Amino acid sequence: MKITSAIMITVMAKAKVKNRGEIMNRTHTNGEFRIHHVSQTVTIIGWVAKRRNFGSIVFMDIRDRTGIIQCVFNEALSEKVKDVRNEYVLEIKGTVVERKDKNPKLPTGEVEIIVEEVTIINTAATTPIIVADETDALEDTRLRFRYLDLRRPLMQKKLMQRHAITKAMRNFLDDEGFIEVETPLLTKSTPEGSREYLVPSRVHAGEFYALAQSPQIFKQMLMIAGFERYYQVARCFRDEDLRADRQLDFTQVDIEASFLSEVEFQTIMENMMVNVFKNVMGRDLPVPFRRIPFEEAMNRYGVDKPDIRYGLHLNDVTHLFSASEFKVFSSVIETKGSIKALVIPDYASITRKEIDALTDLAKKYGAKGLVVVKLVNGVIEGPAAKFLSESEKAALMGQLSLSENDLVLMVADAWEKACIAAGALRTYFRDTLKLVSEDQFEFAWVVDFPLFEHDAEEDRLIARHHPFTRPKEEDAHLLDSDPLSVKACAYDLVLNGFEVAGGSLRIYDQQMQSKLFSLIGFSEEQIEKRFGFFVDAFKYGTPPHGGIAFGLDRLAMILTNSESLRDVIAFPKNASARCPLTDAPTPVETKQLDELHLTVVK
Ligand code: AMO
Ligand code: AMP
Repeated sequence: MKITSAIMITVMAKAKVKNRGEIMNRTHTNGEFRIHHVSQTVTIIGWVAKRRNFGSIVFMDIRDRTGIIQCVFNEALSEKVKDVRNEYVLEIKGTVVERKDKNPKLPTGEVEIIVEEVTIINTAATTPIIVADETDALEDTRLRFRYLDLRRPLMQKKLMQRHAITKAMRNFLDDEGFIEVETPLLTKSTPEGSREYLVPSRVHAGEFYALAQSPQIFKQMLMIAGFERYYQVARCFRDEDLRADRQLDFTQVDIEASFLSEVEFQTIMENMMVNVFKNVMGRDLPVPFRRIPFEEAMNRYGVDKPDIRYGLHLNDVTHLFSASEFKVFSSVIETKGSIKALVIPDYASITRKEIDALTDLAKKYGAKGLVVVKLVNGVIEGPAAKFLSESEKAALMGQLSLSENDLVLMVADAWEKACIAAGALRTYFRDTLKLVSEDQFEFAWVVDFPLFEHDAEEDRLIARHHPFTRPKEEDAHLLDSDPLSVKACAYDLVLNGFEVAGGSLRIYDQQMQSKLFSLIGFSEEQIEKRFGFFVDAFKYGTPPHGGIAFGLDRLAMILTNSESLRDVIAFPKNASARCPLTDAPTPVETKQLDELHLTVVK
């Protein structure tokens, strides 16, 4: 993706104002040269990106963060620069001339600088990775030498674009009356939620802080404190298993507001995204975003963060098999599960090998197997056709409106499992059939989440979002009798199949908060110990409030078309949770452990 010229112009303008006369003698930045600069005498600084010798003449591309300009060293200077190699830092004074052989691929490609004076500001050892957009360096090597990796223009653009996103959000929130407040990173351990990092206290032997997973409790305190509209670009820490879209320390744009309805609050958030897309990408986003209830998201897309850029919806075919003699289906009918079908048009020539791969994929997502049939010469055939009766085949053709050469994939299981496995297949075909393009961006709200889910391991209810989320008023009477059917005032903002933000309206009534804690199995004593201060605060006039947190890294990853969060974080951890640059985590001195009253058990 192209970084918009607006950002580059701002970057260049700032560099000029700051540098003129202050940092050396720089008069221009390297990316700004155009034909109208011809015959000006200029001074630039930068890194040698490329060097070529043509007999006694030397050409060098000189790079700074705004771009590259070609410089020509004639014979008189060639002795002085004979040892200059890539990544040396030079200051160059010279005259801008029109190039004979123009380079249309380079924004500065119409001109070059004939060098008159050169100062070698610094030398550079041979770099372990090549500083250029194209790289075949392993990721760990890139992270080990991140300062060189970040010199690559591509990486510079990504971080500048991330900056532009943050800035657009800050500006918007400021205009809407939100104020930025910082909250503690060293805080109290609250085990409900993801796994925390604990920090031992030196002063209080045997006691621990936890690193904040999010500013959740504090932002609610700020609402009780009467600030009405808060935001923070907040670092968060979660001891999670890493994935391409997860880091241990990551950044939220965390937001909370009082006295707004769910839709009023969401509308402000939509407008913020409109603003980001306009300012950062120069694009207009249509609003309002689509609102998809959780249940519909699961039924149609097989996931609670649907990618709505393409069709290929899941179909429910459970009712067609109510009298099935196929054991896989009949056992699911008996246990009130679901059968989910996905139709892939014109894909009947699928190989055995691909069917096996699809079956493995479904199994990876929890399915026990995959039923595969296809419509060929007007007849349902394929490996699993023998399990279906003639009337079931006819019903299937009718309900799915099958056309010749369509492939049908079916998963039978408990409802959520069947949806998720079929949803994973849907994503597979998005990528295999290239159903979406890089420049498509579609937001949706996923709403009406269940308040609770059942934790099989501990056999108890747990809060799906977090235990401060308000139940839908119309469902509150079901809290005791049928808690799993109670819906929450919770919403996720989804972009291209990623959850970029999640939030909820909060409980503001002390009794309701205690009730929620007790439903998720906290005793009075545990509530007092863990959240006593929180419940206490609700006594003193708590305003109705709610909020959201945007995953800034994720948003930047999607908007820069990056494959991984690591591409938009300056110094990320690798997939095995290490920082290859500093080598963290490392063992520490026994003296340090002693001070912290800790011993490491081998
Ligand atoms: P939640 O846990 O949904 O909500 O987090 C909000 C958003 O943060 C991003 N995110 C992550 N990004 C990178 N690495 C991670 N490990 C990671 N975990 C989460 C996601 C997610 O949507 N306090 C609530 C918000 C609220 O209710 O206001 C919260 O933290 O994009
Ligand atoms: P089996 O009876 O285990 O040999 O399975 C027969 C066929 O049904 C195989 O193609 C399996 O992959 C498929 N299958 C098994 N369990 C399921 C399930 N829960 N959902 C969909 N297909 C299944």
